[in-house]
Amino acid sequence: MRERKEIVVGIIGFGTVGSGTAKILFDNREVLAERTGFEIVLKKIADKDTRRDRGIALPGGVLTSEADAVLDDPDIDIVVELIGGIRPAKDFILRALGRGKHVVTANKALLATEGNEIFGEARRCGVEVGFEASVAGGIPIIKVIREGLVANNVIAIYGIINGTSNFILTKMTEEKVEFSEALAEAQRLGYAEADPTFDIEGIDSAHKLTILSSLAYGIPLSFEKVYREGITKITSQDIEFASELGYKIKLLAITKASEGKVEMRVHPTMIPAEYLISKVDGVFNAVYVEGDAVGSTLYYGRGAGDMPTGSAVVADIVDIGRSIISGGTRRMAGIAEKWDKGDASGRIRKMEDIESMYYFRFSALDKPGVLSNISGILGKYNISIASVIQKGRRIGGSVPLVVLTHRAKEKDVLSALGEIDDLPVVSDKTLFIRVEGTEQ
Ligand code: HSE
Repeated sequence: MRERKEIVVGIIGFGTVGSGTAKILFDNREVLAERTGFEIVLKKIADKDTRRDRGIALPGGVLTSEADAVLDDPDIDIVVELIGGIRPAKDFILRALGRGKHVVTANKALLATEGNEIFGEARRCGVEVGFEASVAGGIPIIKVIREGLVANNVIAIYGIINGTSNFILTKMTEEKVEFSEALAEAQRLGYAEADPTFDIEGIDSAHKLTILSSLAYGIPLSFEKVYREGITKITSQDIEFASELGYKIKLLAITKASEGKVEMRVHPTMIPAEYLISKVDGVFNAVYVEGDAVGSTLYYGRGAGDMPTGSAVVADIVDIGRSIISGGTRRMAGIAEKWDKGDASGRIRKMEDIESMYYFRFSALDKPGVLSNISGILGKYNISIASVIQKGRRIGGSVPLVVLTHRAKEKDVLSALGEIDDLPVVSDKTLFIRVEGTEQ
C-alpha cells in the first residue's frame, strides 16, 4: 500500500472562525507539514455567502455554496463544522459521521445540549469528533484535561470562559460605569454573541462548563443540570464594596467533585484580588485546574476570535490527521466512552446542597436594632458573619449594609434571606454573591 501523505479537509461555515482556520492552513502550511510529516489539503469550504471578501485568496473551486459538496466528497477525511447553532449544524455533523468522516467543531452550544448523541454516533461509526475550539478559544484546555493532566483526579476547575462578560465586569471595575453602559461598549466592539443573553446570562459559560465537567468527571453532558446566574444584577457599588473587602467580581464557571458528587455552576463570584485568576481582565479567558497529583495549574489566553479559535481547530485537524496516518483512530475514546451512557442525575450535587462563603448587600433602614434583627436570623440558620460594612447615612431612607459570611450551606442562606427580605426594615431584595478563597 502506498504510504499516505495527505489529509483532506472540508470546512462548512466561512465566517470568523472559518476564515481564521483557512488562513492558518494556508499561511502555516509549511510548518505544519514539517511538524506532522503530512500535507493538510483544504479541498472545499462551503458557505451560503460566496461573495463576501474575507481577505483570503482561495484557489479556484474551493468555495462552494453547498454543504453537500463537502459532505458528499469521498476524498474529504475531516469535516470542520463552523456554522454554530443547533440546526442545521447537527444534521451536517451526523451526516459526516455516518459517512465515516471525522468531524472537528467549535460548536459549544450543540455539544453541550446534543453532544451525547453526537459522541455516541461517532463511537458507533468508529470516527473522532475534535472539539478543542469549543471551550476557551485558543487555550488548549481540552488537551490539558484529556492528556496533560490525565494522571490526576480533578479536584476543581474554575474558569473565566466568557470574554464578553469578563470585558463588561472589567470595564465596570476600572471605569466605575454601570452594567448597561459596559454592555453597550462590548456590543459596539463586536464582542457579544449575536444574542448577548448567551454571554450576560451565563449560558455560553454554562455550555463550555458542561463540556469541561464531562471531561473531568466522566459524566454524560448535562447542560440542563448546570446552575446558572448571569451578571446583570451586579452594580458598580457591589464591585466597589468587593474591592474594599479585598476581592474582585468575576463570572466564574465552577466544577468540582467531593464525596462522589459533581458541582456544576456558573455565577458571579468574589475572588481574592491577589489570586492570579483575579488579574485576568478584558476579553481574556483563563481556566484554573487543580489536580490531586499536579496541584494548581492555570491556563490563560484569548477565548474568541478568528485566529485563536482557528488555532484550536487546526490543532484538532492535526491530531485526527496523525491518527489517520498512523492507522489508529479514536485515540481519545477512553473518556468519551461514558458520555452517551446513562443519566448523570445521581452524580450531580443539587445547588441547595453546596457550601460557600457569601457576600450579602442588604437594603436596610438606618435605625437602631436593624443589624441585630438581621444577624439574629443569620445566626438562627447557622450562618456566621466574617465582616460587616455600613457606609453613609440616609435619614428616612435605606442604606446598603454589606455582610461577608464564613462558609455556609446554600439551603440555609436561601431560607435566611427569605426571612430577612420579609422584615419591614428591609426595603429591597437582598443581593448575594458567592465568595471563593480561603476563610478569613
Ligand atoms: N461570546 C463568547 C465570549 C465567544 O464572549 O467569550 C467565544 O465563545
